[in-house]
Order: sequence, then C-alpha cells, then structure tokens
Amino acid sequence: MQELKNIKGTHDILPTGIAKWQKIEKVLQKVFTAFCYKEIRTPVFENTALFARGVGEFSDIVSKEMYTFNDKGGESLTLRPELTAPVARSYIQHHFWQDAPVHKLWYLGPLFRQERPQAGRQRQFHQYGVEVIGSSLPEADAEVIALAYSIYRELGLKNFALHINSIGSTDTRKNYTDLLQKTLEAQRQDLCDTCKQRFDVNILRLFDCKNPGCAQIMKNHAPSILDHLSREDAEHFTRVRELLDAMMIPYEVNPALVRGLDYYTRTTFEIKGTALGAQDALCGGGRYDNLLRELDGPDTPAVGFAAGMERLILAMEAEGLFAEDEEGMDLYLAPMDSRALDTAMPLAQSLREAGYSVYVDLLGRSVKAMLREANRKKARHTAVIGEDEIKNRRLQLKSMFNNSVSTLPFEALADALINEK
Ligand code: HAM
Repeated sequence: MQELKNIKGTHDILPTGIAKWQKIEKVLQKVFTAFCYKEIRTPVFENTALFARGVGEFSDIVSKEMYTFNDKGGESLTLRPELTAPVARSYIQHHFWQDAPVHKLWYLGPLFRQERPQAGRQRQFHQYGVEVIGSSLPEADAEVIALAYSIYRELGLKNFALHINSIGSTDTRKNYTDLLQKTLEAQRQDLCDTCKQRFDVNILRLFDCKNPGCAQIMKNHAPSILDHLSREDAEHFTRVRELLDAMMIPYEVNPALVRGLDYYTRTTFEIKGTALGAQDALCGGGRYDNLLRELDGPDTPAVGFAAGMERLILAMEAEGLFAEDEEGMDLYLAPMDSRALDTAMPLAQSLREAGYSVYVDLLGRSVKAMLREANRKKARHTAVIGEDEIKNRRLQLKSMFNNSVSTLPFEALADALINEK
C-alpha cells in the first residue's frame, strides 16, 4: 500500500516547532495594533479569473504556479497563490469605501504555489502582510515600509536590508519598456531562452533573471528606470525617501527591483535576508494604483506588502533568536497512581483557573520517570501526589530554579507559584 505522507513542498508544523510561530505571531499582533491596522481573513480558494486578471496572465505565478481545479459544478477554482487580489476582491464586494476613505488591513495565512521546493521555498507557505487601500499619497508607502521594517526590528533580526525602487505609473512604464526593448534589441540573441520569451511580453522581468550572462547584459546595457520617471512619479519617490530618512529607516535604492507581479505602479520594495541563501526575499510589496479598477472596482489607489513566515523563521534561526524560548510550565504534577489522579486533576483545574499552566502526567509511571520528564519539559516546579499527600492535603513543592523544597497545604499552592512565575 502507498505510504501516506504529506505532499512534497508542504510541511507539518509540529508541536516541537510551534513556539517559533507563536513568538512571531505575538510580535505581529503587537506591531499591527501599534499601527492601528485591522485584520481581514479571506477564503483559501477563489475563482481562477481573480488571479488571472489581478496578478497578470504572464506572471510566473499565473502562467505556471497555480493549483487550479474544476469543482463538481465545472467552475474553475484556484488555491490562493497570494493575498492582494483576494483582499481587493473583498474590498470591492463589501463596498469598504462606504465606511471610510482609507482602510488599513493586515492578514496572515497559508498560500499555494507549485514551485520547485528548496530551502525557503515551499508549495504551501505562509505570509503575513498588509494592504492600505484608499490613499495615493507617498506617506502611505512610507508607513507600509516602516511597518514591514518595524516587525523585523521588534523580532530582533539584524541581517536584513531594505531595497526600494519606483517603476513609475502606467505611462512611464510603457515608455520605459519601449526604450528597454529598443536598447536591448542588439543583445536579444544572447539572452537565455526564458528572457527571449519575456522580451516581448514582460521585458521588465529580465532584471530578475539569475543567469549570469543575462545579468551582465542588463548591467551593461539597460537604462535605469529612475532616469525615466515622470515629474510626478519622481516627486512621489523623493517624498517616500524623505519620510524613510526622517524615520531613520536605512534603505538602498535598487533600480533593478521590478517585482514579479503585474499590478505594481510607482514604489516597489523588498526586504532581503542578508544571511539567507538563494531564497533571500523576506518580504516584498509596493504600490498598485490600478488593481482595484482592473477588478471592476472603484478607481482606488493602494499599497501593501507580504512577507514569508518560513523564510523569517530560517533567518531568525540563523541568528539564534529562538535559543532561550522554551516555554515550559508553572507546575508538573506527578500523581503516583489512579487514586492520586482523583486529587491531582481537580487541584490542577483550580490552579489553571487561577492562571497557572499545569501539566498532569496521565500515564501512571514511576516517580523517577515523571520527574525526568518534568525536567525535559522545563517545568518550573514539580510536586508528587501519593497517599500521604492525599490524606494530609499537603504536598512538597520543588522549585526547579534552586532545588528548594517547601511543604505546603494545597490552598497555599497558588501563592507559592506566583513568586517564581
Ligand atoms: P511575493 O513577492 O510573491 O509578493 O511574496 C512575498 C513574500 O512571500 C516573499 O518575499 C517570500 O518571503 C514569500 N514567498 C513567496 N513565495 C514563497 C514560497 N514558494 N515559499 C516560501 N515563501 C514564499 C506577493 O505575494 C504580493 N501579494 C505582495 C504584496 C502585497 N504586494 C502588495 N501587497
């Protein structure tokens, strides 16, 4: 019989690893709350047309990475490969603009892309991200970048770098891509096959090619988009930079940062992990002023980013940021037999109601085995319950910090635990 296993490119997040996720999620909640962003949750699957129209037919995501299937009604559905288009769809469907002119939203959830799995690249992965819908001002771009940056700072990450660019508004980009095609025509035959294909449909993606020959051609021949911005685009970009400077957020201007999704206009940015391997993009985003209109919504400007959770965990592990995070518990109760459980379980229950974490052994093992496990589980206190303890309603509370032992009536337990909580 076929062995039942998880699908390639997906991972179980096991109880032994969950503390890392929870640590990050706690910081996310804190930073999103500090910036006054509200959470939004959308379904895991959507109509395929949403992504084809939103993300762009010629993007890698839509052309080769989507998990698409027909349901029993014959409708084409897709497991969401990103969350900007679903959030825009929800904004349009629920007429968000009727409540307020600007919405600041955040999300966290699983996404699906059929990519070749490798370190930092899965087929099911998780992103947190934000979308600010309703402001065309550069201040919104700067706020979103500041938020993305604050999360890494708050988590204590050191090895990362912010790259920013502007790819201009639609007209600017049209002029620039024409110029790029003209300039690179002479090098066309020297490009790799993928770049040759992209030359006519999405020439900006030539900047993302990892082939050293293509990278050299771009370096030597491609004009910088920043020299071809319209006056308004250039002013917008200058203002974003001024605000980042004022907030003391360090960045590098990178005119080759074009991003792989089609909806961007003007500001684009990425945060790269400087100690990560090939998959070094921790976070990516930018402004997308046309997407809502293209999805038949109101002509509403927007800006946002999304960041990979798994890559963040890799980056934090590399910096030893999870080292002393073992959660442990306030008390490990070791009942010596099933009669002792009659006493241990209600006692544990009342302590939990008082706010303590209490682990009760349920296997009826030897005291030695239970205490060894308590140690392994990083219990801060242990107490054995046997016949004497039941009769006298007193127990010996052992502190694992200093090995001190105190004999206490059950009622005094909560007060004793608090001292070393
Ligand atoms: P993206 O650049 O496709 O942008 O993805 C953002 C981040 O998700 C990446 O920087 C990376 O950390 C993570 N990521 C992407 N693919 C994978 C994968 N296969 N495995 C692990 N992590 C991955 C977007 O998705 C846009 N929706 C961002 C955005 C929001 N733009 C505006 N608003």
